[in-house]
Amino acid sequence: MKFFLDTANIAEIEEAASWGVLAGVTTNPTLYAREGGKLADFHDHLKRICDIVDGPVSGETVGLHRDEIVREGEALSAIAPNLIVKVPTMPEGLAATKALSDKGIKVNMTLCFTVPQAMLAARSGASYISPFVGRFDDISEDGIDQLSQVVTALANYDFGHDVEVIAASIRSANHVTQAALMGADIATVPFAVLKNLVKHPLTDRGLESFLADWEKVKNA
Ligand code: G3P
Repeated sequence: MKFFLDTANIAEIEEAASWGVLAGVTTNPTLYAREGGKLADFHDHLKRICDIVDGPVSGETVGLHRDEIVREGEALSAIAPNLIVKVPTMPEGLAATKALSDKGIKVNMTLCFTVPQAMLAARSGASYISPFVGRFDDISEDGIDQLSQVVTALANYDFGHDVEVIAASIRSANHVTQAALMGADIATVPFAVLKNLVKHPLTDRGLESFLADWEKVKNA
């Protein structure tokens, strides 16, 4: 499993990149707005992220019609070679994904919840598909089970191009564990979740006792 950071926060991205585990970044309009982002700075902000991250960086389109999405996607794609165009799952989004992928522009199809949506995304040429886990849990459905169905169904077919599943809307270490066990290619996680992934009380307790015992060695 590869780890992406689900954020538009530059400091978080720099910190995660310094750990040596960051394989990519996903952003969306909400995450950019959370950083106080302005429309005029949007492309510059994505460029900064693309320069930090050695891997795919998703920037999302907001158009609702095919040609509009394609125009936005082409402009986003010109920002950097590692910029991936993120397109919402909807009929116009599928049409735009087909047009963009035909031009060699990689698309991450987002707001994907079901197997049929994922199948259509893959057929339209999407290189990445982002099933949302936590938002299913929010409505008292099992997001991990839904993700598992998508991973299993996609593995049944050859789409003629590489398709990677990005487990998105990840809220906990358990979500990551379950996504890894089922073989999801990527987990995109908020920075708070990434920090939690590395922690365990037994690790803390073990480190504390190793350091205490090393003090005895030093003073022996
Ligand atoms: O990248 C989009 C997705 O991860 C959103 O997550 O927590 O807003 O449901 P969340």
